[in-house]
Amino acid sequence: MQSTPNLDQFIPNSLTRLAYQSFQESKKVFGFTHKLISDRLTNTVIPEQQSKSQPLSPEIFAKLQVQLKALEEKDWQDAQAGVYPNSLLFDNPWSDFFRYYPEVWLDMFKIWERLEKKDYQKFDAAIDKTGYPDYYLQNFHYQTDGYLSDMSANLYDLQVEILFNGAADAMRRRILAPLKRGLQEFSHLPSRQLKVLDVACGTGRTLRMIRGTLPKVSLFGTDLSPAYLRKANQLLSEISGELPQLLQANAENLPYLDNYFHGLSSVFLFHELPASARQNVIDEAFRVLQPGGVFVICDSMQAADSPDFQVMMNNFPAIFHEPYYRHYTTDNLEERLRSAGFVDVQVENHFVSKYWTAYKPKQQ
Ligand SMILES: C[S@@+](CC[C@H](N)C(=O)[O-])C[C@H]1O[C@@H](n2cnc3c(N)ncnc32)[C@H](O)[C@@H]1O
Repeated sequence: MQSTPNLDQFIPNSLTRLAYQSFQESKKVFGFTHKLISDRLTNTVIPEQQSKSQPLSPEIFAKLQVQLKALEEKDWQDAQAGVYPNSLLFDNPWSDFFRYYPEVWLDMFKIWERLEKKDYQKFDAAIDKTGYPDYYLQNFHYQTDGYLSDMSANLYDLQVEILFNGAADAMRRRILAPLKRGLQEFSHLPSRQLKVLDVACGTGRTLRMIRGTLPKVSLFGTDLSPAYLRKANQLLSEISGELPQLLQANAENLPYLDNYFHGLSSVFLFHELPASARQNVIDEAFRVLQPGGVFVICDSMQAADSPDFQVMMNNFPAIFHEPYYRHYTTDNLEERLRSAGFVDVQVENHFVSKYWTAYKPKQQ
């Protein structure tokens, strides 16, 4: 078992800050360069792809840089405030990076084939597709085999980091402060008795961060993809602390008792769901949470609070396969949370993400 070194004890804070800024900067340059080259190649092979999106104006680009800097500052400040240790700022799947980065390029040939054929529901014949909701059987982001192969799970974290220019983890970490705050309601209980579920945990990145933040709580993760759960199991078993319990389950129908969890999180799920499924997931979250429990959602920004970035919200579903995204950007999740019974719904935005924190009312 590999434990994360406690950087805070040995290195002056100014150096750690410089290292964090350099780390983020290098991920940004890497992601930007990768996308520049891969977009040019794609536009050469499939010229009509270029006309699907609008270029970002220099003003929007500058605003985006300001938002990204603000996200990084918040990430740093939350670590300094003790929400999580500095070491979490540097957590990165390095071995997967070196092992699978070449595969990201090789996968482009398959992506181009699907793009040319406009075939966005293509799965390897060996993949068993029974039992999944129809809306799920998609090549989201043109991923080969959607979420249903081991190779897709191996490439996913890398692809997301590239997509967000290295800011994906900093955006995920924004759920940690509200989650930790919400769990204070149960501070009379020993940490081990607290149960936290990450819904649609994917490869377990968020669970890894929750483990770093709340080392003792009992962690759970569910996802529809057996391949992503296998990957999560592998990545989570590398870190210290108890292994989270992972279960394959549709988030619309969670296999847990009523009032079971003290905290729930869900990251980057809702934009991949049709509207009715979004409501079902929120209703399920309400059911499995204990009274006083907290639910924190992280997903894409929406049209109403980020009008400057509307062009990006138009481009995203046009250049990636994201069939439910457009509706998501105008969906009122606050209203959905309230209609499920949640109270004290708070909303915040960081970079290109939006966060909802909601509570199940305490028992009277
Ligand atoms: C964009 S990924 C996000 C994964 C992870 N939370 C993260 O932060 O990277 C969406 C995840 O949601 C899962 N998913 C989509 N629809 C689902 C559903 N109805 N029930 C459970 N998981 C679902 C997918 O398998 C995938 O792992």
